[in-house]
Amino acid sequence: MRGKFITLEGIDGAGKSTHHAWLVGYLKSQGREVVATREPGGTELGEKLRALLLSEPMHLETEALLMFAARREHLDKLILPALKSGKWVVSDRFTDASYAYQGGGRGLAREKIQVLERWVQTGFQPDITVVFDLPTEIACERLAKTGQAPDRFELETRAFFERVRKTYLRRAVTEPDRIKVVDSRQSLDDIRKILEKFIVTL
Ligand SMILES: Nc1ncnc2c1ncn2[C@@H]1O[C@H](COP(=O)(O)OP(=O)(O)O)[C@@H](O)[C@H]1O
Ligand SMILES: [Mg+2]
Repeated sequence: MRGKFITLEGIDGAGKSTHHAWLVGYLKSQGREVVATREPGGTELGEKLRALLLSEPMHLETEALLMFAARREHLDKLILPALKSGKWVVSDRFTDASYAYQGGGRGLAREKIQVLERWVQTGFQPDITVVFDLPTEIACERLAKTGQAPDRFELETRAFFERVRKTYLRRAVTEPDRIKVVDSRQSLDDIRKILEKFIVTL
């Protein structure tokens, strides 16, 4: 049987990576074979593109094209083969992030992203996408506490992250069956209980 594809989204500092690690462990404890991955990245070439994307200044459309180039590789080398062999794949970000960051954040026309999505995914979509939603000021405080050096995206303005957040929320309204919003102000335990409930429905 084909595995399930779960993607985690949200602005920087919203809790994706924290819950990604937990969810992968939880699914394994349930006896599933799980592949943990992330975007941009997930393959050898994709991780090289990630390093460029997170550090090099570039044209907005170059950024979008490289994101989708990395995604093409990710689907071909990792996501689709894993799903086909029955493994579950949990990705820290996927295409909703292109709409939110390159679209909402940077202002790239949605139509251009749709063209790339159709080209690269030919209709393929995650089984479920969880958007961790958090006010930008709280996300900023949480990121500051980690003490890690910010990347090219994390250095963006509050207004940028407001637009990214709004785009995620708008997408969740238009695709309620796939995209679930979780209030990240809740405790880790409460959020884990919500994630467990989502998993049961897959
Ligand atoms: N529900 C939560 N309550 C309090 N702190 C949280 C919560 N979720 C995540 N954090 C903390 O916020 C910081 C950012 O979380 P992280 O998972 O790295 O976010 P992201 O991957 O979305 O950028 C981390 O230090 C993490 O421990
Ligand atoms: Mg993260």
